[in-house]
Formats: sequence, C-alpha cells, structure tokens
Amino acid sequence: MVSIKSDREIELMKYAGHINYLCHKYLESKLRPGITTGELDKLAGEFITSHGCISSSLGYEGYPGNICISVNDEVVHGIGGKRKIKNGDIVSLDICMSYKGYHSDSAATYPVGTITKEKEELIKNTKDALMEGLKMVKEGAKLGDISNAIETYAHRHHLGVVEELCGHGIGTELHEDPDIPNFGEKGTGLTLKAGMTFAIEPMLNLGTKHVYMLDDDWTIVTADGKPSAHFEHTVLVTKTGYKILTGE
Ligand code: MF3
Ligand code: CO
Repeated sequence: MVSIKSDREIELMKYAGHINYLCHKYLESKLRPGITTGELDKLAGEFITSHGCISSSLGYEGYPGNICISVNDEVVHGIGGKRKIKNGDIVSLDICMSYKGYHSDSAATYPVGTITKEKEELIKNTKDALMEGLKMVKEGAKLGDISNAIETYAHRHHLGVVEELCGHGIGTELHEDPDIPNFGEKGTGLTLKAGMTFAIEPMLNLGTKHVYMLDDDWTIVTADGKPSAHFEHTVLVTKTGYKILTGE
C-alpha cells in the first residue's frame, strides 16, 4: 500500500529532512584525508541525536553504524571503522533518521582532495541522474517515468546502473511501498498522487553494473572494482511537481 501523508506528517518529515541536510553539511566539513570512517560515523551519531532525531540505520536488520559510509568501489552500506580516508577518494554518505516516528533518507558522494576527472564526472552525472528522475515527479505521472529517466541518463553517460538496490516509499517506515528501481519503462507502474513521499536514489558505476556483497554481510562493492556514486533525496509529490525534503 502506498500511503498519502497528512500535512502534520509532512511537517515531521520536513524536520527529519532538514536535520538530514544539516548532517550532510556538517560531515562534509569534516571530510578530509586522515579522518577515519569510524570517526565520521561517531560524529554523525552525535549530530543526529543532539538534534532530537534517531538514526534509522543503527540496528536496522542488525546494521551496526549510525550512517552508511561507502568509499570508491563501495556502492552502499559501508560500515564505519578504522579505514582512513585518503586524498583522491570519493566517499558516499547515506544518512537516514527519524523524528517523532517519521523518516528522512538522503545520500551524496563527496570528493576528497584532488580526484580523477573520471570520478569527478561520475559524481556529477549521478547527481544529474537523480535530478532527471526528480523532474518526472508530479501528480498523475507514472513510477516508470522516474525509473526510465534515471536509466536513460545513466546509459547516455555510459554508466552502470545497479539493479539489486532501489529507491522506495518513506514515512513511518524507512522503506515503504513502492520500490523505485533506477531502470524501467516509461508510462508503466503506479500513478503518483500528491502527498506520497519517496526516497529516490540512483547508484551508478563507472564500469559494470554488477555488484557483490563483502564478507561483512553489508558492504556492497562493484564487481570490477571501479568507483561508484550514490545520490538520494526524500521528496514529496505535489500537484504540480515535487518538493525536496532533504535539501537546503
Ligand atoms: N539508507 C539506505 C537506503 O537508502 C538504507 C540503509 S539501511 C542500513 O535505503 F541498515 F544499511 F543502514
Ligand atoms: Co533509501
């Protein structure tokens, strides 16, 4: 079932989304060569709770971190630890939290120091792919319009589209109906209605679309070891378009 949120619910999601945005800005300011992923995770946890929110990742199916931190060829669900961030790395921070029972979910990939032109383009194109998907969002549009816009943009830029993971509805649960794949057919699937809230999240690879899971049972990495990027926003469907709840 795809729920329609009330004005009150949307206000709570807006707050969770705003703190999510501020948490991204805070962590971005701390991201530099030498910091460990464990230190970033700890700072995130403190930031989230000091703003009255609760990490939605911590304890999710046993997930041990406050946020997900995925470096270079790690696609998603990397766990903070002793790893030191280096000059030239790209770091995906995927942050989800709840406020009074309402969730927000947002991811972005950040460059550290001087990165290769390839990585720079990967980051730009993944961010733009998310925007292409978002542009399709409005009452009356189909879910497949979003998926297809992301896939088309990714393929035009010769990027691999990860198929095993997808976007999702969000609200009182972190993951609600519907699933929102990053590939699909235009004009198919659910008809969007104002008041629906979605987390849309392309994960795009410089090389193959294929991925596998590390022995920690969480971290997803690219099969060919090439870098991956991830951008995600929580958005509200409106009559005329969409509103980003995890933006500025
Ligand atoms: N933030 C992820 C998503 O976008 C979910 C993370 S759950 C965790 O859906 F357990 F891996 F943290
Ligand atoms: Co998500």
